[in-house]
Amino acid sequence: MSSTTKAFLPYTNPSRIQKIDSLKVFKASHGCFLKDNLSESYLDLNAKNCGNVLLGYSDHDLINALTQQASILPYHSIHQWSLSEPLIDFMNFFNLANNQPNNGFFFANSGSEANESAIFLANSFWKIKGHKNKKICLSLQNGFSGSTIFLKEQLVQIHRKNDKLFGQELINELKSTISRIGADKISCLIIEPIQHHGAGATGDIEFFDRLKEILNENQILLILDEVVTGFGRCGSISYSQSLNFKYDIITFGKSSTSGYFPFSFAWIKDSIYLELLNFNSVFEFGYTNSGHPIGCALARIVAEKVSQPSFKVSTNEKGEILSKILTHGIPEVKSVKFYNLYGYLFFEDTVIAAEVKRRLFKRNILVTHYKNYITVSPPAIIDQNEFNYLMDNLR
Ligand SMILES: Cc1ncc(COP(=O)(O)O)c(C=O)c1O
Repeated sequence: MSSTTKAFLPYTNPSRIQKIDSLKVFKASHGCFLKDNLSESYLDLNAKNCGNVLLGYSDHDLINALTQQASILPYHSIHQWSLSEPLIDFMNFFNLANNQPNNGFFFANSGSEANESAIFLANSFWKIKGHKNKKICLSLQNGFSGSTIFLKEQLVQIHRKNDKLFGQELINELKSTISRIGADKISCLIIEPIQHHGAGATGDIEFFDRLKEILNENQILLILDEVVTGFGRCGSISYSQSLNFKYDIITFGKSSTSGYFPFSFAWIKDSIYLELLNFNSVFEFGYTNSGHPIGCALARIVAEKVSQPSFKVSTNEKGEILSKILTHGIPEVKSVKFYNLYGYLFFEDTVIAAEVKRRLFKRNILVTHYKNYITVSPPAIIDQNEFNYLMDNLR
């Protein structure tokens, strides 16, 4: 039995892991590279799981903020009728940067928890309004990435004929799902503005406006899951807000602290937040580490960096260069889709995509594969050095 088998690894097959003699063990990192315990370096084109490490592995501002915050106030619980300075700073900065000064926050530690919190808030909203039966959450097929059992039990997925499109067909499928279940039982719809496990499907402002209109007619709240697309991955602090998509709650996670600390939150539109303040009993919900001061201090720095206009320009340029290098260097690529530094490479089928992923791994390049595509989401500090490395290693 290999020594690594004592830990269950998320989204892996335990019996297959048992058969592997030794898994790769990483011990160090620098910039865009990870180093294993045999001192071999890998270019992390996936920023270790859907682009978490947005600012790279050696961002001095983040390292300094982390150590400084740990030396001043390493822990604080917001359960006990009090706040911390980093928490207030972060909320003020985030609301101002998004031009939404009166939005509310519900803090958590992971994307799944942020989504669960958002659904809890949506259900609480309807309870206040006297609709106690509105508890079901709608999502798209392959359009929800959360891990909690509670959530999985409450979800109803919209059956889709074509999971590549956000258009009229999806609107029709939404309408028929609502009439099948009954609007009086549905609390919210959760949707990713770019569907991570849906081949990067997305919609334009007309689609999202129409979606919101139908949800409003049926008294259903709209939760946008920006756990992947938020905090810079697509060039702005919030992808949906850079395009003016309407929403009731937005969830953020992954790159909010560039992966340096577990941190996530649900961001609540002011009108919904104000209504929720009428909830006149204890919120039986939340997390011991909600609004952790280290997470808040780091998220404040990431938010500041990604809301600079130059960040959008540079991630757009780098995405274009990366897309060209990968298309040129991997002959099996059929087509590509890039949203700044959130990219999809499409292949003929799943087998080819898996083969390419293995080949890249052998050439010390890390990417993620799902179905017939590979996603790339490198640290935003990727630059000429890494582009040269890629061109050399893809040859
Ligand atoms: C779009 C999206 N939302 C939520 C999550 C869940 O985040 P976490 O793994 O931090 O719980 C994921 C995870 O990959 C995701 O891709």
